[in-house]
Amino acid sequence: MDLNPLYRSLVLGVANQKWLERLVRTHGWRFARRYVAGHTLEEALDVVKRLEDQGIHALVDLLGEMVTSEEEAAAFTGEIVRLVQALGTLPYPRWISVKLTQLGLDLDRELARDHLRRILDAARKVDGVVQVDMEDSPRTDATLWVWRTLREEEGYENVGIVLQSYLKRSPADLQAILHLKPNLRVVKGAYKEPAEVAWQDRGKIREQFLELVRTNLAAGGHTATGTHEAALVEEVRAWAEAEGIPRERYEFQFLYGIRRELKQGLALQGYTVRDYLPYGEDWYPYFSRRLAERPENLLFVLRGMAQG
Ligand code: FDA
Repeated sequence: MDLNPLYRSLVLGVANQKWLERLVRTHGWRFARRYVAGHTLEEALDVVKRLEDQGIHALVDLLGEMVTSEEEAAAFTGEIVRLVQALGTLPYPRWISVKLTQLGLDLDRELARDHLRRILDAARKVDGVVQVDMEDSPRTDATLWVWRTLREEEGYENVGIVLQSYLKRSPADLQAILHLKPNLRVVKGAYKEPAEVAWQDRGKIREQFLELVRTNLAAGGHTATGTHEAALVEEVRAWAEAEGIPRERYEFQFLYGIRRELKQGLALQGYTVRDYLPYGEDWYPYFSRRLAERPENLLFVLRGMAQG
């Protein structure tokens, strides 16, 4: 029996408890910082430079999600524009990732679209790319609507999207946007999802992951994998090479702080490797998803906290 979905679901369920959040926010930063560049933009930019020295590009993310007021959504938007402008002063590729609930998706999808448009305009000025993260399944339709409105109706070419291979709907979602040759990141999916909407079987999630990657590459879209599973990365790499797909059309994305050797090996072979690099104050939800991905991570934190 595959215990992974059960473990993840348990951890993500418990992570919502306010008392636990308070405890981890107070004592957990020393563990979280393995995955997070720092609290400030300046700290994030320092890590961007360090990664570039190792041949790895950054995909910078200002932490924050599920905002509940227009003021907060506007403030995050302003802060992300500042991030894009700061990246524009550095001689590296300017890629960022955003979550639409950080821009007000739960308040009004048009508000989130308007905020994202502002960020895309700033990114255009510095030749930047903005990938839209995919959040949990109640928000999939709204996320795709915002992305598609800007990509298809308004003609923004610098906006990418993410599809999750655990969602049963993802192949159909990809078919619906394939004519746009999307800039696509394929991930397995990090949220607690019921069996009605999401595969729970690892084999099926892997199979669908490969199907999404191959379909998008075959249709001509720029495609990124977002996985740390070495075997899956290798399957994509070998398939793309065998098909003769130019290396500029695909890349391997990872989360900052995980799998350093795998990344460096790929970068040394001349593949594009990009590290998803979060920074900011709102690190708890991101960190709890990382704990939910790997029992060893949770044990490490619990042991550390017990030792004081
Ligand atoms: P999997 O869980 O299959 O494990 C494979 C191996 O990877 C493990 O044995 C372990 O060694 C290592 N590993 C995995 N997770 C680890 C961790 N937390 N700490 C240490 N080692 C770990 N999800 C989503 O729903 N929406 C999104 O927009 C994104 N965006 C995104 C961007 C990028 C660049 C990445 C890499 C991932 C995402 N994700 C995401 C998260 C994704 O859906 C998924 O939850 C994680 O990548 C874990 O699945 P893997 O396939 O990486 O590893």
